[in-house]
Amino acid sequence: MPHIGPILEGRGDSDYERYVRVPELLELQKEIAKLSHPEERLFQVMHQSAELWLHHIDYEVDRVVELIGAGKVDDASSLLHRCRLIVDLLREQIIILETMAPADYHVIRTTSLGRGSGQESPGFNRILDVGKRVWPAFEEAMARKGTTLLEIERNPREHHEIFRLVQAMMDYDEAFLNWRFTHMRLAFRIIGSKVLSLKGVPAAQLDAGTREPLFPKLWETISELTAEFKPEY
Ligand code: HEM
Repeated sequence: MPHIGPILEGRGDSDYERYVRVPELLELQKEIAKLSHPEERLFQVMHQSAELWLHHIDYEVDRVVELIGAGKVDDASSLLHRCRLIVDLLREQIIILETMAPADYHVIRTTSLGRGSGQESPGFNRILDVGKRVWPAFEEAMARKGTTLLEIERNPREHHEIFRLVQAMMDYDEAFLNWRFTHMRLAFRIIGSKVLSLKGVPAAQLDAGTREPLFPKLWETISELTAEFKPEY
């Protein structure tokens, strides 16, 4: 009979639990007896899982920048596409919180969150500068190819590889704006738009973030391209 028990170090009865570190992970959740409301479990899991994914995006974005620098533009585009899918997932997942009754959230908000605010999310704040991190590498890649953004947009097939990266950057940017918009709608639905957050910030301020692209130059160039095309009638 072959030995089929766990061989990895760690806590848990199986290698699955030891590798994923399930016991440690679940210990991070507030005990049921200490929850301020049964809905608090969802609220905490939602934020914990979001932090894991945000942290992962940060990791992948460093790789994207490295790959562009190494001339591996295709690989960079694929990885940025992955980041976009993660942002889409985060957008999908926060909608689950809309199943929570606002009155139930107020129990959690007024007894358990201290002065905590999403603004303090380290994961979110790390990826707010994705534009600033990726852009210099992208500009260098264009310089290496002796081209400009407008030229790439004019002739996407001629510049196939780098055009794919431009599209991946726009996809990511759009996904991030969509997350911010969906989160704003969630906040308005649960606490309203005419209130102050636990940090004293007007909730309505979330609106500004839904209008701040990470790669503004990409969007400006689309307008420039359109301006070059005149109707013939
Ligand atoms: C009951 C659900 C939620 C409500 C009512 C809510 C409310 C708010 C409000 C009012 C703000 C702006 C003011 C401030 O930060 O203090 C904010 C910001 C933020 N929240 Fe939430 N939030 C909720 C769920 C979430 C979830 C699940 C996440 C997941 C990570 C999240 C992440 C953030 C982030 C990253 C910010 C800063 C956003 C920005 O600067 O654009 N929030 N939230």
